[in-house]
Amino acid sequence: LLATAGCGSSKPSSSGGEQYSKEKPLVIKFSHVTTADSPKGKAADKFKELMEQKTGGKVKVETYPSSQLYGDKDELENLQLGNVQIIAPSVTKLVGLNPQFQIVDMPFLFKNREAVIKFWDGELGNKLMNSLDSKNIKGIAMWENGFKHFTSNKPIAKPEDFKGQKFRTQAGKVLEAQFKALGAGAATIPFGETYTALQQKTVDGQENTFNNMDTQKYAEVQKYLLTSEHGRLDYVVLVNKQWYDKLPQDIKTAFDAAMKEATEFERKLAVELDKKSFENLKNSKKLEIINLTPEAREKFVKQMESVYNEFEKVVGKDLIDGVKKL
Ligand code: LMR
Repeated sequence: LLATAGCGSSKPSSSGGEQYSKEKPLVIKFSHVTTADSPKGKAADKFKELMEQKTGGKVKVETYPSSQLYGDKDELENLQLGNVQIIAPSVTKLVGLNPQFQIVDMPFLFKNREAVIKFWDGELGNKLMNSLDSKNIKGIAMWENGFKHFTSNKPIAKPEDFKGQKFRTQAGKVLEAQFKALGAGAATIPFGETYTALQQKTVDGQENTFNNMDTQKYAEVQKYLLTSEHGRLDYVVLVNKQWYDKLPQDIKTAFDAAMKEATEFERKLAVELDKKSFENLKNSKKLEIINLTPEAREKFVKQMESVYNEFEKVVGKDLIDGVKKL
């Protein structure tokens, strides 16, 4: 769905920032799906603090965590319509706009965090983000979460264990193919509905970062965790492009500076919380943690090779080869 113009109460005119004041501030809505104490949630609040400080109250940022305002099903559309100005979906959720975003889901592709940072801060990531311009969406920054791991109510130590199980996915055909390669089924379920889906056994398992599992309390509804690091879950901070392009210059300058600081804050925090959440999951004593051995890893890699055969064209060989070189 394409919006032709930004609309809503916070639409600025091009006459400059003077029209906004403490009494009549520009209101910016920032909506996301994780909890307020996740790295994304804390960084959204950090951005709010910085932005309000830098503009002396001429801008008011409202943050909406936990899918309170919009969730997986409607946040992109409402960003395009200008009903919300900032969102930060996981990269995978942009598959409908450009299937190449599924690069993050190619099994075992990114070898470490450094490669992820290099990708997003370099030419490849930039090009991918800029592909959204024509959809009235501007990619502003990459915010981290971490590597994904599998959990289930049933054993998942080796590829054969996955056979016949059903897993929740965020979106997209690559994730579906990943589970198919393991003989498992997949269902796309919004983040806000996943805990219930696991609890009610609509699905047996899911894949996510330590912090998402921790803040969503998946230990309460899952038995096994395999530390697989098989894919990445990070975010792209997105704004409505027409809205952003029309911001008065002083506000745009403050926006860019606040976003840069919030991004540094977020990335550092994500690394810390990834470790802390893994400890929390271990300490919960509710999950059996299975460490992926190099031998088991080899087996998973081999079993998932078919995903590369099937999706090399869709995701792009250049992009895949580019990541391998990082
Ligand atoms: C998920 O749906 O599992 C994640 O994308 C949620 C998030 O925003 O981290």
